[in-house]
Order: sequence, then C-alpha cells, then structure tokens
Amino acid sequence: MYRIAPSILSANFAKLGEEVTQVLAAGADIIHFDVMDNHYVPNLTIGPLVCEAIRPLTDAIIDVHLMVEPVDRIIPDFAKAGANIISFHPEASRHIDRTIGLIKEQGCKAGLVFNPATPLSYLDHVLDKLDLILIMSVNPGFGGQAFIPEALNKLRQTRERIDASGREILLEIDGGVKVDNIAEIARAGADTFVAGSAIYGAGKDSDPHRYDSVIAAMRAELAKVA
Ligand code: DX5
Ligand code: ZN
Repeated sequence: MYRIAPSILSANFAKLGEEVTQVLAAGADIIHFDVMDNHYVPNLTIGPLVCEAIRPLTDAIIDVHLMVEPVDRIIPDFAKAGANIISFHPEASRHIDRTIGLIKEQGCKAGLVFNPATPLSYLDHVLDKLDLILIMSVNPGFGGQAFIPEALNKLRQTRERIDASGREILLEIDGGVKVDNIAEIARAGADTFVAGSAIYGAGKDSDPHRYDSVIAAMRAELAKVA
C-alpha cells in the first residue's frame, strides 16, 4: 500500500486550511509538515501553532519533519499540537536514542531522516525503535529542487534493512518527487511519497478539489508498480 504525503511547504499559506482539506479530499493520505529554523537549514517556516491550527481540520496523519537544531525542546510542543509522526535528523540531536524515546513518550511515532550524504549506519542500533525512515532526495531547506538519483540506491539498502528487521516501518522519500519518477522511486522500495511543488504546483480550477488530477496521475503511476 502506497501513501501520498503532500508537503504543505508549497501550499498557499494565505489559505492554508483550504489547501489542507482540498488535498485530502483529492485523495492524499498524509499531511507532511516541514519545520525549518534558519539554523539547521537555511530557511524558516512554520511551528506548533500552525500544526495546532490545522489539527481540527482532519483525522489524517500529520507527519512533522523537523529540520531544527536542537530538536528535543520543541518535540512536546508538536505532540501537544496534534502531530502523529515526528521525524528528526540525527545530526541535529546530541543523543539520538534519547530523542526517539522522547517522541514516543509524548505518544507520537518516531522517524529518523537521512540527508543525501548521511550514512545509513545511524540505523544500526535504533532500527527496532523507529516507525518511519525518511530518505531525503534533496538537501533539506527548500521545495522545488531536483531529485538526487543516489537516493534510489539508499532506498534499496534501507528497504533491505527494514525487511530483514521484520518490523513495520514506513519508508518515506522526500524531495523532487514528481508524477514521472514516482514509479521508479516505488520500485526502489519507498512506500510513502512526500511531494510539495509537484502537487501544490499542479492545482486545477477544473478539478473538484484542485489536486484530483495530479494525485490520480501519481496513483496511476504507482498502480503500474504493484
Ligand atoms: C525540503 C522538504 C520537503 C519539500 C519537498 O527540505 O523537506 O518536504 O517540501 O518539496 P518538493 O516536493 O517540491 O521537492
Ligand atoms: Zn520534508
């Protein structure tokens, strides 16, 4: 089963509530929520107050991708704001195992995020505690960048590790995902697809929920894989 997770980073922030409900009505599964701090990454986005504001709009999973350093201080705030999954970058935490524990204590699922040059060896001693692994196929900080093909090799290696563990762990890809590469990405092992500019940039006034055509096109590509 494949999940499509639009990143609201590329939504129209002047009407964010509508952008969230429309994309879900158009068939998206998960809301991907990119948090940037102008420190860990060179950009600044949204925080817990915005998460809290969109929480009442849906029961769908809110998948918070923290690109912040340090991470621990802000985790309880996102849990209280209604996040379901909280992911962080290992380089941004002094104590990775402790951060994972903190996310779980707060009642959320925990994810670890791998930048293009971050080795998978960070999984060696924590895989059994993770609910999601996020492979970055761009350097974090901005929407609309080109997919880095080496991410496909990393997905294949991560898929092997997940399957060998026998655990249920989502394998998410983030960055440069489009209709024309989503099938190839799925073949490499991803099951959860973040797409920001590809979805929010393809809204059509003629679609009942603006994003029906682009999400249907992604599903049609994924159907070729399964
Ligand atoms: C980048 C963010 C992504 C971003 C993806 O740092 O983590 O979630 O929104 O945007 P696209 O799909 O446009 O590459
Ligand atoms: Zn993201």
